[in-house]
Amino acid sequence: MKQGFIDVVVGLQWGDEGKGKNIDELISHGKYAGVARFQGGANAGHTLKYKNTTFVGHIVPSGCLQKDVELYIGNGVVVDVVSLIKEIDELKNFGFKITPRLYISNRAKLVSYLHPFIDQADEHYRNKRGAKIGTTSRGIGPAYADARARRGLLVGDVLLSDFVEKEKILADFHMNVLNMYQEKYGFKINLQKIKEAEKKWWEALEELNKLQICDLSFLIQKRLSEGKNILAEGAQAVMLDIDFGDYPNVTSSNTLPANVCLGLGVPHTALRDIYGVIKAYTTKVGGGNFPARIKDVVLEKAFQDAGHEFGATTGRPRMCGWLDIFALRHAVMLSGVNKIFINKADICKSSKMKVVIGYKNGRKILKEFPLYLSQVTDVITEEIPGWGQKNYGVKDKKNVSKELQSYLNYIEKKLLDLDVKIIAVGTGQDRDQFFRWSK
Ligand code: IMO
Ligand code: MG
Repeated sequence: MKQGFIDVVVGLQWGDEGKGKNIDELISHGKYAGVARFQGGANAGHTLKYKNTTFVGHIVPSGCLQKDVELYIGNGVVVDVVSLIKEIDELKNFGFKITPRLYISNRAKLVSYLHPFIDQADEHYRNKRGAKIGTTSRGIGPAYADARARRGLLVGDVLLSDFVEKEKILADFHMNVLNMYQEKYGFKINLQKIKEAEKKWWEALEELNKLQICDLSFLIQKRLSEGKNILAEGAQAVMLDIDFGDYPNVTSSNTLPANVCLGLGVPHTALRDIYGVIKAYTTKVGGGNFPARIKDVVLEKAFQDAGHEFGATTGRPRMCGWLDIFALRHAVMLSGVNKIFINKADICKSSKMKVVIGYKNGRKILKEFPLYLSQVTDVITEEIPGWGQKNYGVKDKKNVSKELQSYLNYIEKKLLDLDVKIIAVGTGQDRDQFFRWSK
């Protein structure tokens, strides 16, 4: 039997590129037996829209709207059980049975009910120095910190007899941390809210207990040996990677495809195609410099409104910027992407689309990606004619306006030496709204 393989989808910008839509479309052709989350947690907000169903998945993998696809949550994920159970229920109401095809790694990390409170306390502390990250408040950073400090809880712990005892030790530690924040830095502990969160968490854990918790690495290797293929679903994006993003304005996991191996427990030889997802422009939420940001506030708002650029997880408005090819080249090189999806190409609110091709620090033109984006004082841009509303819903390359065609040719040219192809271009939110560009 021929061995199966793993393809990977990652975001190449600052998140919210529309990865969910591309994953949903990719798996609709029956090529993949399963979709696997390998990092991040419920900080992701992956919107799936097909016909009359719109679903925003935070932790359930984006294969959920396709009935025969298995769903995997890998050891690299920090699992928010309350979100997980809520999403499973929501999908059930849409007519999708999730539990028989969902497998969770026993080595995945549990987000505790106190992690979101510590996340908020950390932000409160940073904010005193004007250095807020603008996290999603989902407890992601504290959950990964506990995992690295080797005091965290694993999903598999819930099946063991000493779980309650272990949880109590961690909860005591967390309360000490929160008390320190309260005493030293004026963070207000809300005991009522903590109690409510605790209750919900324990209720959700009871449901988690009934789910298929397993050695997921073993299961995935078995599927591969059966000749089945799997799609690894990246959350966040390369520019939010803990090692290669704009630290500390990043998330707490490695978002690069290299982390698929560690986040699922598979060898690098299992990886095949690496798909990168971008939008035709750029958005960002949270703190830190955003060099490509559109300076004209009215124009930025026009992109925000037309592109519905409001967080799927937090509802926050997203800052909008031009396509940043300097950052994109960095992301492509780091991730080894060979195929690119461009989404939201129907959104064009300017008669001229700018593109960022370089960063400057004072008079110096930067050759390499800077250590901190705060070092970027100006950007070098080029302009391409815009295409207005013409391309909404276009599904055939023949019907694409010549301005958008020029834009796509321009991008491909700028990436030529990196051996990457634009394979499809999105023209609307629905799974079917896109056209194929190059093979
Ligand atoms: P998807 O998968 C966009 C951002 C937050 C914040 C930083 C750290 O939908 O693309 P965290 O809660 O992870 O500690 O926040 O990362 N962030 C995202 N931005 N899309 C996401 O996910 C994000 N997940 C986290 O806004 O700046
Ligand atoms: Mg998002």
